[in-house]
Amino acid sequence: MSELNNIALKILGSGKGILAADESTGTMTKRLDSVNVPSTPENRLLFRETLFSSNGMRDCIGGVILYDETIKQTSSKKNKIPELIASMGSHPGIKVDTGAKILAGSPNEKITEGLDGLRERLKEYYKLGAKFTKWRGVYNISKEYPSKLSIQSNAHALARYSALVQECDMVPIVEPEVLMDGDHSAQDCYQKTSEVIKKCFEELILHKVDLKGIILKPNMILAGNKSKDKISNEEVAKLTLECLKNSVPSDVPGIAFLSGGQSEIEATENLNLINKINTTNFIMSYSYGRALQQSALKFWSKNTRDIEGTQKVFNHRAKMNTLAAQGKWSKEIEN
Ligand code: 13P
Repeated sequence: MSELNNIALKILGSGKGILAADESTGTMTKRLDSVNVPSTPENRLLFRETLFSSNGMRDCIGGVILYDETIKQTSSKKNKIPELIASMGSHPGIKVDTGAKILAGSPNEKITEGLDGLRERLKEYYKLGAKFTKWRGVYNISKEYPSKLSIQSNAHALARYSALVQECDMVPIVEPEVLMDGDHSAQDCYQKTSEVIKKCFEELILHKVDLKGIILKPNMILAGNKSKDKISNEEVAKLTLECLKNSVPSDVPGIAFLSGGQSEIEATENLNLINKINTTNFIMSYSYGRALQQSALKFWSKNTRDIEGTQKVFNHRAKMNTLAAQGKWSKEIEN
């Protein structure tokens, strides 16, 4: 087994999942504004450190995606954040893209940037303790989007990024996110997601990326958030599984879903249903940002010194998702 495959399996093994705590300072500021906490480096660190030192972290989280600011910060107990994460039995990871910008040639779509100088930045992050990385490609969906141009150019960037990351001995998380915004049907989401993922693998293979040493981070197959014809959670699970079965090569060890604006419970319930009917060899787990942190952030904002209380809220959410990653969650356990 290759070392990268080993890392991927450790991150997602035994029902563990990934905590996506890699909000850029801009996004984190929006999250903190929404709960009336000033967005200072100290507050951003305090909230994150609270989660990283929790029991939920030790029991459920196999990897944490960090933002550049956080990977360089030092905890209140004076250890480096990657060391704190490693001491909890988890793997530190790092977001390395520099964000989605307007795609020249199709101004209503985005292309993710960050390839220039990436090899040097990767070496630095590796030295800081990173074991894996993340790059997110983002796709609008409507009748005309995502365009061929957006599908092709984002897949190309994801593949070039992945090849560089493996060259630096880290596991790339490949995240093509088809957004849930819009009035499209679940069938539309299925069809576009499938096209997007297939193109990503075509490029990954062209760039000689070892598929056993990546983690795929896709969206689930959902109807648009403005769509009139919603589908049941059972159908979400069935379509999601079918889509991935038909578009992901079997070498890939694990798939870790993004939550993408689903509520906490919805994201847990859908993951659970997926695992109940998962007949593939893929590990199906979570790499949630909002769906792991929302309640904890809300609780914490009322008293930012209540570490224990905040950790309790986070522990519960992490535990529920780890049960869901094994198909063992239920509404009774949730409540
Ligand atoms: P959400 O789970 O909030 O969608 O965040 C996951 C993520 O990392 C998006 O890039």
